[in-house]
Amino acid sequence: MDKILVTGGLGFIGSHTVVELQNEGFEVVIIDDLSNSSISVLDGITSITGKKPVFEKLDLKDKAGVDVFFNTHNDIKGVIHFAASKAVGESVEKPLLYYENNINTLVYLLKQLEQLPTASFIFSSSCTVYGQADKLPITENAPVKQAESPYGNTKQIGEEIIRDTCKVTPNLKAIALRYFNPVGAHESANIGELPIGVPQNLVPFITQTGIGLREQLSVFGDDYPTPDGTCIRDYIHVVDLAKAHVVALKRLLENKNKANYETFNLGTGKGSSVLEVVKAFERVSGKTLNYKIVGRREGDIISAYADTTKANEELGWETKLTLDDAMRSAWKWEQKIRS
Ligand code: UD1
Repeated sequence: MDKILVTGGLGFIGSHTVVELQNEGFEVVIIDDLSNSSISVLDGITSITGKKPVFEKLDLKDKAGVDVFFNTHNDIKGVIHFAASKAVGESVEKPLLYYENNINTLVYLLKQLEQLPTASFIFSSSCTVYGQADKLPITENAPVKQAESPYGNTKQIGEEIIRDTCKVTPNLKAIALRYFNPVGAHESANIGELPIGVPQNLVPFITQTGIGLREQLSVFGDDYPTPDGTCIRDYIHVVDLAKAHVVALKRLLENKNKANYETFNLGTGKGSSVLEVVKAFERVSGKTLNYKIVGRREGDIISAYADTTKANEELGWETKLTLDDAMRSAWKWEQKIRS
């Protein structure tokens, strides 16, 4: 079976994708610098699949180390590239850190792939490239808007770098996957999200409040022009999202792609408000969540949810899990890691 490199394979989406790749029989090699992940995730993956993936601790900024890696693993057929910094606020404070971590490393990686006889490349992009879209649901043809943060900009620039490289590199094929809001955990609760410090994202903040680690959830604004006044997002279960990576990779490996570079939205197609997410948590946990409405968070968009037609039709992929499934698994995971 083909050997696939997963960069950032011990992170939240990376680890779930490794599980799905192994379930489909792929041989997985993970590189991760452990800057925002834990080595214990390797055991979590192994306990689910029964097979320990090969792991190398490697920072993609270490050019010489990356060279040695590709010389050793010269039979890699595909790369799923998750390794990147992802904190929006931090990226505003430290733009060069983000450009170095997310852009330099991408360039090094593509230079390696250029030299392989053939390579299939899957890139972690984000719906953040659309900003506040003019039309909902958001299709892949919606214009890319001026990025709100250096983090968002690294996703836009990253897509452009890959597109330009694919144009002139016939042996390289790539798909950028634009994620909406990934949430939840594996149903085994052996892997899940491990935010460092105070979570910035909604769902880990909710489960940490539920378990008593945080006193109260602040709901950022209830005066938006939405049905209940809170912002709307498309929350996609991380296991559905992980499966989409395997489908996208197979599309490239089996030469089913229509162009050398393609983009797909990955979401459920359904928008949920912040208060609906809170209610889903309360429903599946049986707990009452302590929350209060506070002012708007700067930079938040009002509403974003995916048009999933292209992914459904061309990838033959659709989400199977619901928001309740996601909240149930996230809660099970939170309880397990705190016990
Ligand atoms: C955020 C980032 C986005 C990034 C994505 C990665 C911002 C402005 N946007 O998206 O660029 O791609 O994470 O996952 O940081 N909320 C609360 N209280 C909280 C936390 C969140 O009410 O304590 C609300 C937010 O206002 C938002 C929703 O919950 O309406 C989801 O927030 P979040 O999980 O941070 O995701 P995004 O803002 O969509």
